[in-house]
Amino acid sequence: MRVLLTGGAGYIGSHTLVELLALGHQVCVVDNYANSAPEALTRVRQISNRDFRVEEGDIRDRDRLTAIFTDFRPEAVIHFAGLKAVGEGEEKPVAYYDTNVTGTLVLLEAMRASGCGKIIFSSSATVYGNPLYLPYDEAHPCSPTNVYGRTKYMAEQVLADWVRANPGTGAVLLRYFNPVGAHVSGRIGEDPQGIPNNLLPFIAQVAVGRRAKLAIFGDDYDTRDGTGLRDYIHVADLARAHALALDYAADHTGTEVFNIGTGTGTTVKEMLAAFERACGHALAYEVVARRPGDIAACYAQPEKAERLLGWSATRDLDDMCASAWKWQSENPQGYRSEE
Ligand code: NAD
Ligand code: UFG
Repeated sequence: MRVLLTGGAGYIGSHTLVELLALGHQVCVVDNYANSAPEALTRVRQISNRDFRVEEGDIRDRDRLTAIFTDFRPEAVIHFAGLKAVGEGEEKPVAYYDTNVTGTLVLLEAMRASGCGKIIFSSSATVYGNPLYLPYDEAHPCSPTNVYGRTKYMAEQVLADWVRANPGTGAVLLRYFNPVGAHVSGRIGEDPQGIPNNLLPFIAQVAVGRRAKLAIFGDDYDTRDGTGLRDYIHVADLARAHALALDYAADHTGTEVFNIGTGTGTTVKEMLAAFERACGHALAYEVVARRPGDIAACYAQPEKAERLLGWSATRDLDDMCASAWKWQSENPQGYRSEE
């Protein structure tokens, strides 16, 4: 299938690209490198020994996007491009709405103009907001508590309305839980700029000596050991979910929402212990105050994805930490290690 990946140079996009190339799809990546590096795509070529198209461009650039669509004529789009830092979204709401919502609108126009009617969208568990019950199933009400989550929920609604108004089209909305880990080769992985916001990249940078110690944001939550509990999902499992979602979209019209998680929660302290097993040494930490906006626990009911997509997670916490450690230890400065 001819598949266009917006944001394909990013963390989840690059891993999905490897998966799609292995399955023989023809791919075109559109990315403006706002949060990624062309080096990731060079490495995908090496890992997969397959070529693909790359177009440097901004998804909000109507003319550019339309030209790319008219030329490549994708049969489906996987829409990863977006801004994703929760804290930054509070400071720069307009930038977040512009990229995540306007970007989606412009993308839909380019799709319509070129006759492409199938889209897979990177949504997030953050659309649910504070849990009314756990695990979250797809019917849990959506009430996002931050700007980033609202942009994602708004984009979901835009996509569902577009599909309703255009018979024969289809959208698969994938609500990711907490993606972590790296490709088994250690050649591509998560490469946050500046101080990592997320737990696993932070731990990995402590392990490699880039940071002195992990700050654990609170140990007085109502969880097994008092630290926050999340549903971590290996990025390679997440990549496979996109390949299966493409198959599903090819055979179905309408909008369908899927949780993509393992169904199991891991606490911060459990994750730290798992990473210590992977890297082979103890990691320094201190417990500090809770991070504003954090919830105690968040994990998925992933049964729908198993039933309709034939997808379930196959990799465990040790696989996640071992692959993250391989990537971090072999590329201590991320993609800049190459320069
Ligand atoms: P990422 O930042 O690594 O990848 C996003 C990619 O989009 C980057 O390559 C960036 O350069 C590109 N991009 C940003 N703005 C663009 C624009 N205007 N035009 C073209 N390209 C643009 O992030 P990721 O972790 O790979 O996330 C991918 C998607 O999944 C995002 O939409 C994110 O909101 C969503 N998501 C991520 C997580 C997570 O924890 N990583 C969780 C849930 C959902
Ligand atoms: N944590 C720490 N110290 C850190 C970083 C995180 O203790 O330095 C804790 C947090 O308090 C939380 C857990 O580790 O309990 C996970 O935090 P992350 O920041 O890694 O992940 P979140 O669950 O807060 O949010 C992430 C993404 C969101 C996405 C969400 C989906 O940042 O964009 O997962 O569930 F929407």
